[in-house]
Amino acid sequence: MAITVQMIVLLVFCIWGDHTAAQRITLPYHPGSCCFGGESGSNADTVGLQRRVADLEARQAQMEARQAQLEVSSRQAENTRPCPEPEIPCEWKLVFKIQAKAGPDIYPLWSSASVPANQPDDPSLSTGHYISRDVGMWESLDIKKVKVSLYTFSPNMETRDLIFNGTGSNKDNWFSKDRLISSPWTDLKTTPIDENGYVFSIVGHVYHGLHFRRFFINRSFLPLGCPNDRGWMVVLDQNSRFCPWERGTGNPRILFSKLTTHVYFETDRANVGQADVMAIFIKTCDD
Ligand SMILES: *[C@@H]1O[C@H](CO)[C@@H](O)[C@H](O)[C@H]1NC(C)=O
Ligand SMILES: *[C@@H]1O[C@H](CO)[C@@H](O)[C@H](O)[C@H]1NC(C)=O
Repeated sequence: MAITVQMIVLLVFCIWGDHTAAQRITLPYHPGSCCFGGESGSNADTVGLQRRVADLEARQAQMEARQAQLEVSSRQAENTRPCPEPEIPCEWKLVFKIQAKAGPDIYPLWSSASVPANQPDDPSLSTGHYISRDVGMWESLDIKKVKVSLYTFSPNMETRDLIFNGTGSNKDNWFSKDRLISSPWTDLKTTPIDENGYVFSIVGHVYHGLHFRRFFINRSFLPLGCPNDRGWMVVLDQNSRFCPWERGTGNPRILFSKLTTHVYFETDRANVGQADVMAIFIKTCDD
């Protein structure tokens, strides 16, 4: 590395550090060059730093001016052009949730004439029943779809969904075969409804204070008798106890067919599932 005259001159200044103003002015400015890039308190560096600081200050002032300009023009833009609407995803909204064996009856809750507020505030899956005030104003919500989800937590988390067309529905009539769009069961949409005892309704079937089968979808009435009871799902409310298959501890109980078709509730108990939670969601947008 060749040591140039300039370097020597700089080195001398660095070591002596004591030179006149005239010398300082003639000193060439090489950023970081004094004493070969090392830290130094020499006047040469001071001059360089002062220049850099002045330069930075000037640039900062420039940027501040530019920023102020931008703010003014964006405010002007706000006044003239509306902001684009944020994209709202079309999502399911929970409006009702029942927890198996939580205690309170569910049909009186669903059918209550008015729902002044969400009850309770916290609709988490593991804490009792929940009803949203949306249920009380069903017809004013312009509901497009309704989903019933049956959750089983163990041994594995499983979910079974029934989706209904909610267009023009009220809170009692959307749960019907006509409105059914999809379900976990292949024969639900095709089973004839003219057989005696076919039930597909929220109010379900109530019998002499002995059974309260709500959100009930069963196949037919005949031949009569508990062993012939077959269907797809039911919420046993208010201590239903008419048939052996519907007796059990805890109120309410949510039963469903684990098959891809309906199930014989009495004689094929292995294929009767017990859901831990049933939830109802609505969609008020087209997807
Ligand atoms: C829902 O029902 C309405 C009114 O009957 C109908 O116009 C619409 O196409 C249906 N939507 C679906 C997804 O079936
Ligand atoms: C269908 O439901 C009705 C009303 O609960 C009941 O009386 C009848 O036994 C059921 N029939 C079948 C086949 O499930």
